[in-house]
Amino acid sequence: MEKILFVVTLGLAAFSLSNTAALLSNANSESALVTYQQHILPIFEVHCLSCHGERVSKKRQLYTYGSVKEKIDDILFRVQLDPSNRKFMPYKMRQAPLTSAQISVLQAWKDGGMVE
Ligand code: HEC
Repeated sequence: MEKILFVVTLGLAAFSLSNTAALLSNANSESALVTYQQHILPIFEVHCLSCHGERVSKKRQLYTYGSVKEKIDDILFRVQLDPSNRKFMPYKMRQAPLTSAQISVLQAWKDGGMVE
């Protein structure tokens, strides 16, 4: 009986260890894989570039890698405000607000060193 318990305990410990390892490596590979071209630009095309695109706004441009990288803190701040805040983006909800999954992608991109 004691032996069986021991084996079960060992098995559980090994299971939770391998689970944790899998979670960790997932988190790492996700943040390493987020790139401007593949993940960030497509979000901006849908939600932001109708106002911050090349044709529309030279001053408040957000259509280049460099401009998004430079403004990432302000961007993360604004998309997480209450939509009633006048600084909330997308401005006056004229485009659909970002989902929490999209905001996590932006955060992961920043944390991963903002790969182009
Ligand atoms: C309907 C038009 C519109 C949309 C869509 C829009 N914005 Fe804006 N944005 C504005 C206007 C107008 C301003 C200037 C007013 C202000 O600063 O609050 C602005 C200002 C900003 C600024 C500060 C100025 C700058 O460029 O440094 C940031 C950052 C920003 N928007 C990010 C975003 C992001 C990110 C999205 C998409 C999630 C977005 N905006 C979608 C109209 C828009």
